[in-house]
Amino acid sequence: MNLVVVSNRVARGKTNEPMTGGLAAALLPVVEKSGAIWVGSSGRVRDGTQKEPFAEVEALGAGALAMLDLPAAHYGGYYEGFANSALWPALHSRTDLIRSSQQDYLSYREVNAFMARALKRFTKPDTVFWIQDYHFLALGAEMRDLGVTQPVGFFLHTPWPARAVVAGVPHHRELVEAMLAYDLIGFQTQDDCENFLGYLRSDLDLRIENGVVTSRYGTSRMAVFPIGIDPEKFARQAAKAISHPDVSRLRRSLNGEKLAIGVDRLDYSKGLVNRIEAFDRMWTLQPAMQRTVSLLQIATPSRGAIEAYGNLQSEIAKLVSDVNGRHGEVDWTPIRYLNKGFSQTVLAGLYRTAQVGVVTPLHDGMNLVAKEYVAAQNPADPGVLVLSKFAGAANELDTALLVNPHDIDGMARTIALALSMPLLERRMRWEAMMTKLRGHTIQQWFADFVDVLQQTHTASATVGPPIPEPPTLWPLRSVNSGARYH
Ligand code: F6P
Repeated sequence: MNLVVVSNRVARGKTNEPMTGGLAAALLPVVEKSGAIWVGSSGRVRDGTQKEPFAEVEALGAGALAMLDLPAAHYGGYYEGFANSALWPALHSRTDLIRSSQQDYLSYREVNAFMARALKRFTKPDTVFWIQDYHFLALGAEMRDLGVTQPVGFFLHTPWPARAVVAGVPHHRELVEAMLAYDLIGFQTQDDCENFLGYLRSDLDLRIENGVVTSRYGTSRMAVFPIGIDPEKFARQAAKAISHPDVSRLRRSLNGEKLAIGVDRLDYSKGLVNRIEAFDRMWTLQPAMQRTVSLLQIATPSRGAIEAYGNLQSEIAKLVSDVNGRHGEVDWTPIRYLNKGFSQTVLAGLYRTAQVGVVTPLHDGMNLVAKEYVAAQNPADPGVLVLSKFAGAANELDTALLVNPHDIDGMARTIALALSMPLLERRMRWEAMMTKLRGHTIQQWFADFVDVLQQTHTASATVGPPIPEPPTLWPLRSVNSGARYH
């Protein structure tokens, strides 16, 4: 089998650069070991004059990393436009933030089609394709249109919301129909999978039997594969990182006070405003807790060209400065707020230093920070995880202190409770969570998905050819002819 993994963002091996996000950082170690070819965006763009999509290929572990320059005319409409100003807000149930034009949709489809053409060069008879995330909902359909018959699977790293929310996405119907070109569609949680199945039933009038649906593309299976981490490796990294200079400096600066930590991309789905308000409430209602604990909030800038992200950055900066101004002292800063990224090594050491990890998104596919915080703890004296019940991770990490991020008073009380939790209870909760993490590692996630994909493809091939139906996809090419990037 020749595995080709595709994602918008990729990560280079053997660097200790700051990591920008869950998917790329999580995939790196497993893709490296698997011998797969990982195809994604180089982060650069090109105009459409060259004959072949340009790919820079370098070795990655036992396989290779191929980075494509995406088409300049469509990159903005694809990434900042449709992917992150229509799909991302909708997938996180923020339809109020959808800003998208017809041209954005065209660009999104063009980039999906461009990627499909680029993948042709990596296609062999025994190739298995695994496409990642919401940037490429229509890639499978584009590949099928080019005659690709090999197994093609898809995994969604974000939530999939209720049908009424999906209906807020322009062209939602065409996109979901296109998704059915995938042999296997994987979700983070049972709720996400059920929401998707609900959409197929109610909006596309399709029948689902045992998680399998038949469409004009043949059969497609829907299943749940919660993504994991490598907990033992992360634990080793954290134990070592405790002596890293950045981590030692942090410890020395604490003057006996406790530390709570939050690490997020600066994104409205992460619930940063609510979290800061909860700390504010805690220090207001229980003044004795001032000086006893500070919050280290790392908020890595993200998608800065999009208005909603710029507004959020200003809102949080103002809020932090207000809270620090009201509660701070000459020798105590309540919230240490950093707008930059850190390497995984340093993060592991910071997690181990903090007595409380606050992971309180309003809605999140999984949230690997929650899992990493747990894995990084000292088994003899573990910290407490305060976790939003709206993060996918809450399904597994159910012995964390689960909170509703919309209930500011409740969060304030829970954070205070976490800070005073006795060692025995901390240990019991932590051990239960570690057992879960050990039971669902990223290695198992990777192997399970590829296994089920291969089985699903073999099973559907024996069912016989699908009944052909006229294409129902929106006639993109005729509208946008001449904008092809070969
Ligand atoms: O599914 C969400 C995701 O792909 C995460 O893996 C990651 O945190 C984020 O989105 C990355 O976003 P971007 O590539 O836009 O920085």
